[in-house]
Amino acid sequence: MKKPWLGLLLLIGSFGLVVGVSGQTVEGVAFPEGYRTWTHVKSMIVEKGHPLFELVGGLHHIYANSKAMQGYQANPRVFPEGAVIVFDLLEPVKAENAVVEGKRKAVIVMEKDTRRFAATGNWGYAVFEGDSRRPVEINANSCYECHRGAANTDFVFSSFRP
Ligand code: HEC
Repeated sequence: MKKPWLGLLLLIGSFGLVVGVSGQTVEGVAFPEGYRTWTHVKSMIVEKGHPLFELVGGLHHIYANSKAMQGYQANPRVFPEGAVIVFDLLEPVKAENAVVEGKRKAVIVMEKDTRRFAATGNWGYAVFEGDSRRPVEINANSCYECHRGAANTDFVFSSFRP
């Protein structure tokens, strides 16, 4: 007995699966709305001559959402699903014997999601340009390659300053 509709259903079904699966892998990290009200983890100024200067020279503050704070305080340090950490990069401006915050250079983000970002250590990586919030095209593997140096703290370098 021929059932041509069965083949059609299977075809539609597998197409749906492919779209669904590829949809998961291409889905990126969203702009972290409201991160300025999250917990401040630490700050740092990266100057010329520092290994991170080319990448993130300037003044940065790191912020953690409440799930990321659970991770920073866990021992051993493992971050739960939905943890988001923001690296807010500003231009340092030297003025009147002080260093003050200049314009925002980038909003750099890590989001923990074992389903979407399994290929890069369960973290998604993203960069948004200055205040425009425009996503910058990056190679998440290059982020992951360096962050592997912090594999024993779940790929997160910074520690929470109490
Ligand atoms: C050459 C190494 C290196 C590369 C490449 C790198 N990072 Fe980092 N990243 C660091 C270090 C070191 C810190 C810790 C800075 C601090 O303690 O203030 C950091 C911190 C961060 C943080 C705060 C959480 C943490 O791990 O402390 C985020 C978010 C972040 N990086 C995102 C990215 C993204 C997105 C990329 C790729 C576009 C990237 N990083 C590429 C070295 C790197």
